[in-house]
Amino acid sequence: MANLKLITNANVKKSLVSLAPIVNSIRHQHNWWSNVEMGPPDAILGVTEAYKKDTNPKKINLGVGAYRDDNSKPYLLPSVLKADEILRSKNLDKEYLPISGFAEFTAAAAKLAFGDNSRVISEGLNATVQGISGTGSLMLGANFLRDFHSGPKEVYMPTPTWGNHIPLFKRAGFAVKQYRYYDPKTCGFDFNGALQDLAKIPEKSVVLLHACAHNPTGVDPKPEQWKEISKIMKQRNLFAFLDMAYQGFATGDIDRDATAVRMFVEDGHQIAVAQSFAKNMGLYGERVGAFTLVSSSKEETSRVMSQIKIIIRPLYSNPPVNGARIAALVMNDPTLRSQWLKDVKGMADRIISVRTRLRDGLKREGSTKNWQHITDQIGMFCFTGMDKDQVERITKDHSVYLTKDGRISMAGVTSGNVDYLAHAMHSVTK
Ligand SMILES: Cc1ncc(COP(=O)(O)O)c(C=O)c1O
Repeated sequence: MANLKLITNANVKKSLVSLAPIVNSIRHQHNWWSNVEMGPPDAILGVTEAYKKDTNPKKINLGVGAYRDDNSKPYLLPSVLKADEILRSKNLDKEYLPISGFAEFTAAAAKLAFGDNSRVISEGLNATVQGISGTGSLMLGANFLRDFHSGPKEVYMPTPTWGNHIPLFKRAGFAVKQYRYYDPKTCGFDFNGALQDLAKIPEKSVVLLHACAHNPTGVDPKPEQWKEISKIMKQRNLFAFLDMAYQGFATGDIDRDATAVRMFVEDGHQIAVAQSFAKNMGLYGERVGAFTLVSSSKEETSRVMSQIKIIIRPLYSNPPVNGARIAALVMNDPTLRSQWLKDVKGMADRIISVRTRLRDGLKREGSTKNWQHITDQIGMFCFTGMDKDQVERITKDHSVYLTKDGRISMAGVTSGNVDYLAHAMHSVTK
């Protein structure tokens, strides 16, 4: 028995020695990420999480950045549904697209942005590639500018701006600076502040502009204000990067929403444009977008195009095919296109109508505050002007969920909840 124990102990010792390298390697593996700190949760997803936990039947989620119909349901556009059906019936293969994406889609996307009769298109001045929705298209632009832009590696953004703009450009190596945009006193555009700041930006810097339906404020410059912005940027030789994530979704009119893009081109700017088809076609998860750089000659376009493809190749090789096919068919088939224009207008009109109903509701509640900005602002979002404390109270007392900056997604407002929302907003702001 004693012998057996001795043998066992010796064996255990031996096996421990032979296991040592494995134990060591496991210990090292355990240490790989010990220095990784917990990151903060995503601000918007946090709102949705809290909303889900709330048991109040009257709760409203105004944090979402996706369109909802009047029953608070995601909306599949009839034109998109039809295009999807047609494509399915064709049993198309799932082969890779070229690096630059689906040519029928990129051609149609460029025309949508610049207009059917644009000189940019007829003279071949657009280097347009398919991007991974708006975010991926912005990222291609930021990467290209990092590698080839001859000015300072500084990008100037409106304050506030969409949450992804800042980290996206920082990761691409830019110093992110700001110019005045939103005026909390008027809940409108700080035109003078913006012009004063733009006038001081170092020459050749990159300036990011929201082409329409500014996120998060819903505040857009008027056409005559765009004209002044374009003029000052031309004088100061600033590079304009237009983010167009809501074309058609803002006013219901695709051409009107492209005013800034087309004006800058007419004024002689060689712009960059990032387009998204998430909102205006409801293709959120299909990740359909386009990135364009305007060049000064056809020959320059080919050089620029070759370099954009070199950026894409190691990032994701080539873009996804399904959504691009759908978007191309919707834009290129005359019947589907006219249906789509109605679909987009329907979404924009619903948003515009709930804006009016919310403003009227606040008046009916007896609010003496000026809520004109609710209807002056445009697109998916409304910067209500509610402060942090009011946001906390409307959530705690009325189960209305929104981001801390007081932004509400108008897509979450319906005929069924608009009066309740007006009541809740009045209660916390009176
Ligand atoms: C201003 C702005 N730019 C770009 C995007 C890009 O979105 P996506 O990548 O889903 O197309 C969004 C989406 O909310 C946006 O609001």
